[in-house]
Amino acid sequence: MTTSNLVLVGFMGTGKSTVGQKLAERLGWTFQDSDAVLEEDQQTSISELFRQYGEAHFRTLESKTIENLLARKGQIVATGGGAVLAEENRACMLRNGFVVALKASPEAIIHRVSSDTSRPLLQGNLEERVHTLLEQRKSAYDFAHAVIDTSELTTDQIVELIIRHANL
Ligand code: S3P
Repeated sequence: MTTSNLVLVGFMGTGKSTVGQKLAERLGWTFQDSDAVLEEDQQTSISELFRQYGEAHFRTLESKTIENLLARKGQIVATGGGAVLAEENRACMLRNGFVVALKASPEAIIHRVSSDTSRPLLQGNLEERVHTLLEQRKSAYDFAHAVIDTSELTTDQIVELIIRHANL
């Protein structure tokens, strides 16, 4: 198995970006956040893309972004929570890196995402949206090489666990 990249997947609010940045610092690797790269490329925000062109358009751009990012090596790549829904994205991640899924309890997720109201898929009743999407995606992250429940762990503990799981 190649560890040319370390790919973080997981539901919104599971800590992919925070953990990814810390992990990159710890290993001296580059950190890339696919959502941030996509926004930079498109010169607009994800919520604006959803609003103007709809989710399907965003998903097409997301797949292209992930494919382009994973053509390079030696990176920690944090992906958007829904990136795993497309088979082509899952295959690309598995082909080009060690994939770690971060999980968290609904309560921890709701707590973590409540400070950021910009996520298009969490508009409306936050608790209801999180529970519905978690149910729809309950097996979506199981394809990863390793799965870590972050609910009760600090960022440093998660980083150490990933390093151990991925043999880095
Ligand atoms: C999404 C998660 C978001 C972002 C977009 C859609 C999803 O990323 O890609 O709003 O479908 O779960 P984060 O997981 O970084 O919030």
